[in-house]
Amino acid sequence: MRILAISGSLRAQSTNTYLLKATTELVPAGVEIVFYEGLASLPHFNPDLDTESPPPTVSDFRNELKSSRALLVCSPEYAHGIPGTLKNALDWIVSSGELDGMPVGLINASPSPMGPTYAQEALKEVLNVLSGKHVIEDAIVSVSAVRTKLDEKGKITEASLREALKSGVNALVKAAAEKGIR
Ligand code: FNR
Repeated sequence: MRILAISGSLRAQSTNTYLLKATTELVPAGVEIVFYEGLASLPHFNPDLDTESPPPTVSDFRNELKSSRALLVCSPEYAHGIPGTLKNALDWIVSSGELDGMPVGLINASPSPMGPTYAQEALKEVLNVLSGKHVIEDAIVSVSAVRTKLDEKGKITEASLREALKSGVNALVKAAAEKGIR
């Protein structure tokens, strides 16, 4: 089973990307988590470009989704909202519908002890609209004080965080296996 993973942070040492990378070691045999690396290459969404022949990077993104059984998004919160680059990517699949019916998992990490209070709800709403309400509740993981739970190489140092991610990603795998849309 192929799961597409998208980090909402373009930062080289992104804590969100580190968490997403950690999930690759937490999934059962036979599950492959593939990273979508094209977020920064997508053009700004423009309905005039959303034609039968969209920009090639947009087609690539849509094909990555088409060949996956589930989507796992891990994103920071910027100014209490969804990072623009991530929202831009999601806007490109509103009309094309690749996410429709696809189970979605969601991880949000924040350096704040309060956690990512706003963006998670906003992102959940957008992903529920695009997937037809297939954001999997048990696959939503909220991580507070994330920098205290990673070492300098981005490896998880807290067992309870590893367990929470494992439980979340396995709930996503289960939902994808049951739905069997692709
Ligand atoms: C932030 N950060 C942040 N954190 C938060 O909990 N709520 C917020 O509204 C914001 N807003 C915000 C805006 C901008 C422009 C930046 C750069 C940062 C902090 C953010 O969560 C923190 O930098 C994370 O570590 C970013 O995630 P990555 O890049 O480590 O994955």
